[in-house]
Amino acid sequence: MRLSKKVLCGFLCMTLVFLCTVSVWATSAEDWAERWDDAVSDYAVISMTPGADDSQMRFAWLEKIGQPAAFRCGIDEALSDADAVPVCSVLTVTGQKRCSVTVTGLRENTVYYYMYKRNGSWSGVYSFRTGGAELTALFVSDSQLGRSGDWRKKDVLLHDTTGWDTTLREAVRQYPDISLCLSAGDQAEIGASERQYRLLLAPDVLRGIPIATTIGNHEFYFPLLDLHFAQPNRFGGSVIHSLGDEPYYFVKQDVLFIVLDSNDPLAWDHEAVIEKAVRACPDARWRVVMMHHSLYSCENSEEKGPRLRTSLTPILQKYGINLVLSGHTHRFSRSKSIDGITYLEGGCCSGCNCRACPDVLPSYTDYAYPQKNPVYSVLHFGKDAITTESYAVENGESVRIDAGSVALRVREDPTPQMSVFTKTVQSVLSVFGRIVSMLFV
Ligand SMILES: [Fe+2]
Repeated sequence: MRLSKKVLCGFLCMTLVFLCTVSVWATSAEDWAERWDDAVSDYAVISMTPGADDSQMRFAWLEKIGQPAAFRCGIDEALSDADAVPVCSVLTVTGQKRCSVTVTGLRENTVYYYMYKRNGSWSGVYSFRTGGAELTALFVSDSQLGRSGDWRKKDVLLHDTTGWDTTLREAVRQYPDISLCLSAGDQAEIGASERQYRLLLAPDVLRGIPIATTIGNHEFYFPLLDLHFAQPNRFGGSVIHSLGDEPYYFVKQDVLFIVLDSNDPLAWDHEAVIEKAVRACPDARWRVVMMHHSLYSCENSEEKGPRLRTSLTPILQKYGINLVLSGHTHRFSRSKSIDGITYLEGGCCSGCNCRACPDVLPSYTDYAYPQKNPVYSVLHFGKDAITTESYAVENGESVRIDAGSVALRVREDPTPQMSVFTKTVQSVLSVFGRIVSMLFV
């Protein structure tokens, strides 16, 4: 009983810290208009991304050349106990210094505080809470800031940024235990727009929850995703390299996440990433793939998704994938279980360009959203099932539109592997691919 009270007290304290943080967040277009100049000029806004596993968290920010870079992290809010974490700095093609940090040795269910040196001064103190035994994650797609009109105009970016922020706040208000944000691509409308990435990172929710981004078709041609986010376990062995970023993988609370670049049409490349991730983390209970294009969209047009479906679906089945998260169409849908895999198509989370599902749905679709509102999903990874709860944001409030469940299935062991011959050919081609991509930088 005494122990239960202590646990309850700890939980209440952590909730209080969280709510205190929430209370200072911007809440409307008027709030964003007020902080607009700061947000668009904030060249050193920091990103927090998941580490390779639960014991790590990663951070990245851009800094002017010549300015010092420093980072501190600890469990005391005053950061008096904080360790100085080594900062890795590299020069960028955009003429800045890209700073990145990996914090290691994190404990579960613990609040950590951090701050970083930017433009010669220390930032404010931010906090994040590590997760517990089971993961609750937010899933969004196509925030695509700038998509609602002329992306150069302030009112367009203001509209999309406010929508993006509202969705994030609504999700964490409803589910305070969210400890990861999964974004299935097209984070920005213009992949070369530094301003759009600054606004993407501006919501205060992202100071406390790590975001795992995916390279969309609007972002493959310029390395801003790569510069702004320090993803773990990046895979550089693909034959086709997008300039925007690389595939990567990580484990969070018994879930292996594999993030693919679906701009790359080669199934070979995707299998190489999946195989490496599964071999590195064979014991994760759940395996989730995130990619931008939807393999089983409610739209079912003859775009890239259905073309990749033929080559990629057998690979997903071969490696025991449970859930595939995607976006691209700006329509929300959830598939039936297809040979044990559920496909969740994320819609548009910012309200920049939401689309309704078609009148006639494919036979594989279990649910599709018929209206044009921003959508987000909350995924809970339990022992026996993944539950998905999806919401539309109507007039700033969440309305539940769908709930689904993905059952655990028995996997074949050992995990299948690519042949040595295939790997060798791919490695040779990868070197050529890397050289070709460097010519464009
Ligand atoms: Fe998009």
